[in-house]
Amino acid sequence: MAEQTYVTLNNGTKIPQFGLGVYMINGDDATEKAVSEALKLGYRHIDTAHAYQNERGVGRAVKNSGIDRHDIWITSKLWPSDYGKDKTPVAIDKMLDRLDTDYIDLLLLHQQFGDYVGAYQAMEEAVKAGKVRAIGLSNFDGERLDKILDIATINPAVMQVELHPYYQQQALKEKMKPYGTKFESWYPLGHGDAGLINEPIFTELAQKYGKTNVQIILRWHIQKGHIVFPKSTNPQHLKDNIDIFDFELTPDEMKEIDALDKDKRYFTMSLETQKSAFSSFKPAD
Ligand SMILES: NC(=O)c1ccc[n+]([C@@H]2O[C@H](COP(=O)([O-])OP(=O)(O)OC[C@H]3O[C@@H](n4cnc5c(N)ncnc54)[C@H](OP(=O)(O)O)[C@@H]3O)[C@@H](O)[C@H]2O)c1
Repeated sequence: MAEQTYVTLNNGTKIPQFGLGVYMINGDDATEKAVSEALKLGYRHIDTAHAYQNERGVGRAVKNSGIDRHDIWITSKLWPSDYGKDKTPVAIDKMLDRLDTDYIDLLLLHQQFGDYVGAYQAMEEAVKAGKVRAIGLSNFDGERLDKILDIATINPAVMQVELHPYYQQQALKEKMKPYGTKFESWYPLGHGDAGLINEPIFTELAQKYGKTNVQIILRWHIQKGHIVFPKSTNPQHLKDNIDIFDFELTPDEMKEIDALDKDKRYFTMSLETQKSAFSSFKPAD
């Protein structure tokens, strides 16, 4: 299989551009199975979160893989209930325990609620203490993002947001340019939406390159410079999704896909509804 690509973050660390997301993989056992399978297939980047309640499964798969820990990139995310000058350091230590590791490669604030300023400052301290290599944000915008950018002494290395051909985040990308922040795509396949996957342009290019429609979408993300980690528990999908490094879309083909942008997001819950829905969170053991 052709070599995978890396993205250099604004602190000089190199993140594997492609990985496995484990959102909605239910429980530690199923997660351990999917991550173990992925690592065997050559995946070297796992995206999890406290809220996914499966960090122990990720940790077990990494430990049992026989692969050097330094060759695997682990991202996790703090939940707002973990935020605060005093709470965040404790939450990070618990996360290290659940992941069964001495350090986290990338730690993100998952949502823009609660004491996110205190949490960001505590993440900066964790970088200085060697517990975390890089820090960033997920789902931040507006004045909450401005607040973080004002107080940050370490600029966010990544911004993880909904990002796919129907929702390309041009404005946020422009805003983050001066900070050297790289973009990570969540819902990179529109959460598996058939309408997006079956767009005629993907079918046409899939025929041209002998690939699947999903592989064309993932290749577009890679060539846009996005960091991407589609979720799958299906062995064939896991295999197909990483097999995107042996062909290249032309600049005109990239432009045709860019033209699908129509400000259509799949996650549409308002901030207020999110705030109350998210407040019922139960921390992991
Ligand atoms: N920060 C955030 O707030 C946030 C929010 C959402 C997601 N994320 C991250 O982003 C990752 C990806 O997002 P996501 O899992 O929600 O959406 P996604 O990757 O866009 O879509 C996943 C869906 O696509 C299907 N799929 C995967 N590969 C396929 C293939 N080759 N052919 C056909 N269908 C395929 C999967 O089904 P099968 O399992 O059957 O393959 C699953 O139903 C998450 O796991 C998580 O790490 C972060």
